[in-house]
Amino acid sequence: MTRPLPNDLDAFWMPFTANRQFKQSPRLLAGAKDMHYYTPEGRPILDATAGLWCVNAGHGRPKIVEAVQKQVAELDYAPAFQMSHPKAFEFASRLVQITPEGMDHAFFTNSGSESVETALKIALAYQRVRGQGTRTRLIGRERGYHGVNFGGISVGGIVSNRKMFGTLLSGVDHMRHTHDPARNAFTRGEPEHGIELAEDLERIVTLHDASTIAAVIVEPVAGSTGVLVPPKGYLKRLREICDKHGILLIFDEVITGFGRLGTPFGADYFGVTPDIMITAKGITNGVVPMGAVFVKSEIHDAFMTGPEHLIEFFHGYTYSAHPLACAAGIATLDTYAEEGLLTRAAELAPYWADAIHSLRDTKHVIDARNIGLVGAVELEPITGEPTKRAFSCFLECFERGVLIRTTGDIIALSPPLIISKGQIDEIVGTLSDVLKAAA
Ligand SMILES: Cc1ncc(COP(=O)(O)O)c(C=O)c1O
Repeated sequence: MTRPLPNDLDAFWMPFTANRQFKQSPRLLAGAKDMHYYTPEGRPILDATAGLWCVNAGHGRPKIVEAVQKQVAELDYAPAFQMSHPKAFEFASRLVQITPEGMDHAFFTNSGSESVETALKIALAYQRVRGQGTRTRLIGRERGYHGVNFGGISVGGIVSNRKMFGTLLSGVDHMRHTHDPARNAFTRGEPEHGIELAEDLERIVTLHDASTIAAVIVEPVAGSTGVLVPPKGYLKRLREICDKHGILLIFDEVITGFGRLGTPFGADYFGVTPDIMITAKGITNGVVPMGAVFVKSEIHDAFMTGPEHLIEFFHGYTYSAHPLACAAGIATLDTYAEEGLLTRAAELAPYWADAIHSLRDTKHVIDARNIGLVGAVELEPITGEPTKRAFSCFLECFERGVLIRTTGDIIALSPPLIISKGQIDEIVGTLSDVLKAAA
């Protein structure tokens, strides 16, 4: 067999992609600056998705680029086990200055999925080291997305991510999801209805007994399933139920972290502090892969017993706290701080909300919802062909110079936090035109 040419599209099996469709009509991005991508031909594409919810400060930010360039020349790699490098400690210390009160320790990973696995393992191990080793169950939620590894898809609740992969982790149960368009369609911010869905956790506790449950994991705002904003009071109630039963509460803040809701983290927005917080994406502005899991001191300290020469937690990655990621992360935090980006979404949120809800009476739209700088527009599916209408809109928006994202028949929008009002108008105007013309 002849070897493929360097530009052959066949060899790369693309992730979460309709490979055959893509390869018939490739969408390639060759450059990026601030709010725009550029195709190989130099056509600008306005980024309404911050890459994949990660480029919160916009593209090609000089400070971050320079920090990575300098770092790669200075120290390319340092072993992550039994060794480290100064920027790892600097970055962790900087991060815990902006995390919610009490979340004082960071464990570094390379992605959201790895952060999820790390958090679940910390939860199980913590229950054991504190003498509660019968607590081995993990509780997730329907429609939750926690990455693609086995722990994450087990606690996650999106059918396509689970059905092909066997029996998954045992001892997992799921709460009901909170999506209730019949009562909450076209809500701005947190929906009025649905706090009672938190009581589903009580049902699960009654079924399994609290002494078997280690942790509950939820996204403060479920993103990948189509932007499900939690009902008013729901997360507070989950916190209360967890406290009552000695269950750890894990927030997966992979998309809500680093300013997306107008506060540094979702925990700040909702006034609910978890025991463990999962992050990735915006931690380095998407420039170098990285994730971090934050834990309360009491969790970290519970491991710091026994002989001092022994490893306390048997977990870690070759690239945990990679020097390039730490350099990118420190420069990202500087950029966020200098430009007020961790709170900028709060200023833009009313304008953003008006823009998203201006689509209410547009053809095919059955719901619109928003929070911070996140928006979702849900479309009536084409009968017998779910997901096709939204996917066609995605293709057409790309043709017209705007990058949106779809999941099912839901369009999800999450632009970089540096966006201008004019660019918000451009996104919504293009989407409106595309929807009006859509079949
Ligand atoms: C809430 C949540 N958790 C985990 C992940 C997985 O992150 P990654 O793709 O970096 O593994 C994502 C990715 O979108 C996410 O939104």
